[in-house]
Amino acid sequence: MSSEKEVLLSIKEDVSEILVSEEQIASNVKMIGFKISEEYHDKDLIIVGILKGGIVFLADLIRVLSIPVKVDFIRVSSYGESTKTSGAVDLSKDIEMDIAGKHILIVEDLIDTGTTLWRLKEHFLQKNPASIKFCTAFDKPSRRKIPFQPDFVGVELPDRFVVGYGLDFDERYRNLRHVAVLKQVEVE
Ligand code: IMP
Ligand code: MG
Repeated sequence: MSSEKEVLLSIKEDVSEILVSEEQIASNVKMIGFKISEEYHDKDLIIVGILKGGIVFLADLIRVLSIPVKVDFIRVSSYGESTKTSGAVDLSKDIEMDIAGKHILIVEDLIDTGTTLWRLKEHFLQKNPASIKFCTAFDKPSRRKIPFQPDFVGVELPDRFVVGYGLDFDERYRNLRHVAVLKQVEVE
């Protein structure tokens, strides 16, 4: 019988090293949530989650905010099935709300080369928001190809391919509660 527990054990065996623990993530989410609540305490805020990777962070983040927010989603993909970025950013679902004159905060799982958020910034600016800021759970600043500085950052990571907390390898491991390095990717 392939129980839920066995599946969880098997995905845990695929990772070689935990880079960010569940506890560390939780305390960073609280810290970012506090800063966002302060920054937008007198403004109407629309939070835009980037599908699919950003959903885990977004779900935790909105629940530590002390201000009312609206939530929308956009879907982009830049990775395909490998661990190398294609460089092309494919926008397959746009937001549904009208953001003209509104304050928006984009929520991402991880910034790598900076290409995705740079392209998204251009996309959102065409919709004339009152302001646009960027928030990321994780950042790999050493990998930047385009200079992009997020406004709210959780944990900085080294140049290694990671999974968990929304981040996937070939659509798997998004449900890990921590951020870890994959064994099979390291031996490649
Ligand atoms: P960028 O456009 O190069 O900044 O890439 C950003 C996107 O690539 C992120 O939203 C992630 O979904 C994905 N990505 C970058 N590095 C990793 C990684 O180590 N593991 C999983 N996904 C990653
Ligand atoms: Mg992503």
